[in-house]
Amino acid sequence: MKRTWWKEAVVYQVYWRSFFDSNGDGYGDLEGLIQKLDYIHDLGVDVIWLNPCYESPDKDNGYDISDYYRIMDKAGDMETFDRLLHEVHQRGMKLIMDLVVNHTSDQHPWFIESRSSKDNPKRDWYIWRDKPNNWRSYFTPSAWEYDEKTGQYYFHSFAVEQPDLNWENKEVREEIYKMMRFWLDKGIDGFRLDAIALLAKPDGFPDAENPYDIRYLTNNPGVHEYLQEMHDKVLKHYDIFTVGEVAFVSPEEGLKYVEEDRNELHTLFHFEVCDEMPTWDPIRFKQIQKRWYEGLWGKGWNSQFLNNHDHTRQVTRYGNDKQFRVESAKLLATLVHTLPGTPYIYQGEEIGMTGVKFDSIDDYNDIAMKNKYAEEVAKGRDPKEVLESLQLLSRDNSRTPMQWDDSEHAGFTTGTPWLKVNPNYKEINVKQALAAPNSVYYYYKKLIQLRKQNPVMVYGTFRDLSENEPYIYAYTRELDGVRWLIVLNHCDSDNVYTLPEELSSASRRLLLGNYIDVKEEGTTLHMRPHEARIYALQ
Ligand code: NOJ
Repeated sequence: MKRTWWKEAVVYQVYWRSFFDSNGDGYGDLEGLIQKLDYIHDLGVDVIWLNPCYESPDKDNGYDISDYYRIMDKAGDMETFDRLLHEVHQRGMKLIMDLVVNHTSDQHPWFIESRSSKDNPKRDWYIWRDKPNNWRSYFTPSAWEYDEKTGQYYFHSFAVEQPDLNWENKEVREEIYKMMRFWLDKGIDGFRLDAIALLAKPDGFPDAENPYDIRYLTNNPGVHEYLQEMHDKVLKHYDIFTVGEVAFVSPEEGLKYVEEDRNELHTLFHFEVCDEMPTWDPIRFKQIQKRWYEGLWGKGWNSQFLNNHDHTRQVTRYGNDKQFRVESAKLLATLVHTLPGTPYIYQGEEIGMTGVKFDSIDDYNDIAMKNKYAEEVAKGRDPKEVLESLQLLSRDNSRTPMQWDDSEHAGFTTGTPWLKVNPNYKEINVKQALAAPNSVYYYYKKLIQLRKQNPVMVYGTFRDLSENEPYIYAYTRELDGVRWLIVLNHCDSDNVYTLPEELSSASRRLLLGNYIDVKEEGTTLHMRPHEARIYALQ
């Protein structure tokens, strides 16, 4: 397998509006990120993924771009961006930008022109029809919005304010490629490509049998041709890293996006865990890992993550954020960093930040949640019940401001934060984590160092030794005679794990564990709640 820097990298995702506010306006900003770069660098990560900071009316927190060539005021300006890039590079790290090319804002001049008349030259830059089909969008009951002025409907896979670009139009594609080159020529190190599996639309937009199953939005014929063209015209000319957001995809289809000689993308985020596994389901999780490993290994590269700005914090959703918060956060970290693929850390995960439950819908900001709330309440459902049903998966669970210390607003801002701080910031914050030698933070640091020093953690083959075990997850990674064993007890109580025959005579050396006093007891391991161990075997 080809060795590349991005396979070996650890990526840290910065949702800048919630990271650090340098000017007291209640929003994090690029200057704030610059001020905290040493913190990120000290953790040992290699790459920063920056959520969209282009000019935007901010209906979907920057995923509705109205000018690809400007930085939105809340984030800063182009001079600050250039300084950020320089400072990231000065520290030996890389920066990838989140880029949204499936849709723009309805305030983008292209759309303003497109909607102005049926014969405007940009009419065909978006998707217009006389009649809608029955599709839903991610955020609304219909994927079509009627536009009075010209009496037609336009298509939007997300919010009404996010019209989809028409990728069939060559001029659109050329404009997008030009814009991508603009950013790459500045020296950025790659892209996280938003909603990239949605670029192609099916001929004729046939009605769906079940409109609630929105898989029809993704992976339609033509998407790979677009990506190959993008690769040919843009990506292949730079030494960069690309990761595509690819929902509703099987390993077979996923491979098409990332297979090394197909010339599309380097890696993908598939969402079989985050979109399709609402709460922890060990057997399913193991099956997902195995299938993706078998589907991709040696041919294309995977990513590992359990949360991001769209998905509830992992320790709340898949771990135990109460009694075993620290142990559980470390176990999940071990999992993400030792499974095959590039690991991602979402800001705050490294101190074990948790999800939130606000009492009122007014305290939430997430457009997906708020639209769904309005839709359900309009059907006559009890508002309290609706709120409760949406809380666990609200995207705001992971978007609350970064908790830097125990001062007001967790040290995130001197103003009023755009989204309330999680009330647990007095106990869970960076200052506390840096002062405690056994904190989640230092565990992450060790995991990242291990990856740097041990190619087996990146390039080692993977074997699950515990397929049907409900609590224990045990697997090996193996490379050039080096064999590691990872054992995790994903459970609130003790469990034992007996090593399989073939490993029973191997001697074990504990490389990292999340409990300090591990006693080595022969071939049966007594694992405590949420205990994680990484062994080198000989
Ligand atoms: C995926 C992004 O991660 C999400 O935050 C956004 O709302 C949609 N794509 C639409 O761009």
